[in-house]
Amino acid sequence: METAQNISSLTLDVTPISPQDTVSDVAEKFLAKKYSQFLSLPVVDGTTPVGIISRYGLMNIFIRLYGRELYGKRPIRELMNPRPLVIEIDETLTRASQQITENIQFPVTEDYIVVQNGAYRGLGVVVNLLKAMEHQVARHSDDLSKAYQQLQSSQSQLVQSEKMASLGQMVAGVAHEINTPLGYVRNNVDLVKAVFNDLRKLTGAYAELSQALVSDSISEDQLCEIMARVETLVRELNPADQIKDIETILEDTIYGTEQISELVINLKNFSRLDQAKLTDININECLESVLVVGRNAIKYKADVIKQFGDIPKISCSPSQINQVFLNLVTNAAQAIEEHGQIVIKTLADEQNVYVVIEDNGKGITEEVLPKIFDPFFTTKEIGQGTGLGLAISYQIIDQHDGKITVSSKPGEGSRFTVVLPQQSIAFQKTG
Ligand SMILES: Nc1ncnc2c1ncn2[C@@H]1O[C@H](COP(=O)(O)OP(=O)(O)OP(=O)(O)O)[C@@H](O)[C@H]1O
Ligand SMILES: [Mg+2]
Repeated sequence: METAQNISSLTLDVTPISPQDTVSDVAEKFLAKKYSQFLSLPVVDGTTPVGIISRYGLMNIFIRLYGRELYGKRPIRELMNPRPLVIEIDETLTRASQQITENIQFPVTEDYIVVQNGAYRGLGVVVNLLKAMEHQVARHSDDLSKAYQQLQSSQSQLVQSEKMASLGQMVAGVAHEINTPLGYVRNNVDLVKAVFNDLRKLTGAYAELSQALVSDSISEDQLCEIMARVETLVRELNPADQIKDIETILEDTIYGTEQISELVINLKNFSRLDQAKLTDININECLESVLVVGRNAIKYKADVIKQFGDIPKISCSPSQINQVFLNLVTNAAQAIEEHGQIVIKTLADEQNVYVVIEDNGKGITEEVLPKIFDPFFTTKEIGQGTGLGLAISYQIIDQHDGKITVSSKPGEGSRFTVVLPQQSIAFQKTG
């Protein structure tokens, strides 16, 4: 639309002067009201523009001593500029103003001639063209800022959808984590139930025996028989051992339920519904949560070595920061082919808190390294990675006024370092 706008609408219907007109005639024309607004007038021979004469040029002639007498009678052809700026009528604003700015002389004393297939069509005023161009640029920059806003909002949607994707993976992992202790808690309850049945049989037999002992109407044979039954049951069921078993089973069960509740607490910590809200938190706690939540992805791949330092609380958005560390830890685990090691170190100085996540996985080649923070860059198989993890991590850390850096040696491993300032001022960026 706007870019396709051509200069025809800016072209003025100005009667040109002929090359034979005398200098004096032309000077008269410049004085006429009709031409008073023009800096210059086109000189056209038939339909062919042959030159342009400017008010400024004429003045220069006339102020010379005897200028009028010497030059007044001469045809304008001898004094005009024979190389005027000529622009085709269907030229776009942008290209026309490019031509003009490339050829314009300062001060601006001449306008441009508009032609159609070489034939004169009118006069174009440089200042008008520049004004129209300025309008167009303003409108473009408006479009650009709209596009920028749209880009920003779709980016935040991306952040959200990556979050949902990682949440999906995480939920699957956590479901698995919960299932294991839940499985043996369930199993243990069945075991206790079976033991309980045995014990009930035994207490039934004991009750019968105690009744028999106080009864008058029971024979010695009968009493012996009951005692023999109790004895057999005790031998078979071995209650002392069973009670010991139950104790162990119950301890196990308690441990299992504790594991489940630990997971639930961490899950709650992990996905605090505070989104972008700032909370004062110790990053070591975030990492603990991340390790519990990500345990399923890590445990078959790596031993985690925690070297947590004594670090101060910082103000950050825990759910976002957790997302970053979960991605870094998951990436580390995914980079390990068989079984390896992930070292997580935290430390602080006066200004910053540092988190270093180091793996001895396959590392990152020199050509891949510059791309890893690009959105959608992944070396993982289809369906395995979206390639958004690091792009989003980068953005989150940037919003926290921090930095995330990487160093890696192919075949040896990678080290990601996250630096978070203790006093962040930039978080307002997210709004
Ligand atoms: N610790 C690491 N060791 C080796 N390569 C890594 C490591 N971390 C990231 N990379 C490389 O960087 C790429 C981009 O990582 P990023 O986290 O952005 O996406 P992804 O892990 O592939 O997918 P997603 O995180 O969306 O599941 C990875 O595909 C991998 O090639
Ligand atoms: Mg990733």
